[in-house]
Amino acid sequence: MTDEASPPPQTRRSFLTLLTASSVTVGGIAVTWPFLNSLNVQNTTIENSYVDVDISSLKAGQQITITWQGHPVFILNRPDETLKSLQETALLTRLRDPDSKELQQPPYTQNWHRSIHPETAVLIGSCTHLGCVPTLKLGSKLGGLYNCACHGSRFDLAGRVFKSMPAPYNLPIPPYMYLKHNIIRIGANPKGQEFDFTKIIQI
Ligand code: FES
Repeated sequence: MTDEASPPPQTRRSFLTLLTASSVTVGGIAVTWPFLNSLNVQNTTIENSYVDVDISSLKAGQQITITWQGHPVFILNRPDETLKSLQETALLTRLRDPDSKELQQPPYTQNWHRSIHPETAVLIGSCTHLGCVPTLKLGSKLGGLYNCACHGSRFDLAGRVFKSMPAPYNLPIPPYMYLKHNIIRIGANPKGQEFDFTKIIQI
C-alpha cells in the first residue's frame, strides 16, 4: 500500500489545484489570466517588490498562485480539518522540521500553522530540492499534501517537508502582512517586524 508521505508514482495527479487570479498590474499594464475573476492582485511597482492580493473570494480548500519577485507564491485557504491535522502527532513525527526551527520563514510565522492567520497559508511554491513547483493535493488522510512530482518530495499544508525526502528544507515563506482582513501584501513585513528574505536558508 502506498504511504501518503512516501515518494509517489510519477503519474499521480489526482489532486485539485485551483489556480486563480484575476489581474496583475505591472508598470501600468494590466494582464488578465483566464482563471476565476473574483480575486484581485496588484503589483504596484517592480522597485517596491510587493504584491497586494484580495483574498475575500478565496473559499475553504481553494488556492491561488501569484508571482512575487519571480517566485510562485501559493495562497491557500485551509479548511478546519486541515488545521486540525497540522497539529496531530501522527503527522508531526513524520516531519523533518515540525517546529520550523530552520530559517525558512519570518519569525512571525514560526508557529504550528506557519502563517499569520491559521486559515490562510502563504508559501513560496518552490521545492527546496531543485525548485520544481509542488502540486496541491487535498483530502488525504494527512489533511492534504504538496507533492513535488520531479523527485517525489512531499510537504504538509504548512509547507513542512516530510522526513527522508529529496527536499532538505520546509517551503520558504515570504514576508507578508495584512493591509485589511482580506487583503494581503506579499513582500512587506507587519508593522514592528523585521525579516530579510535574502537570509533564508534555501529557496
Ligand atoms: S525538485 Fe522537488 S523533489 Fe526534486
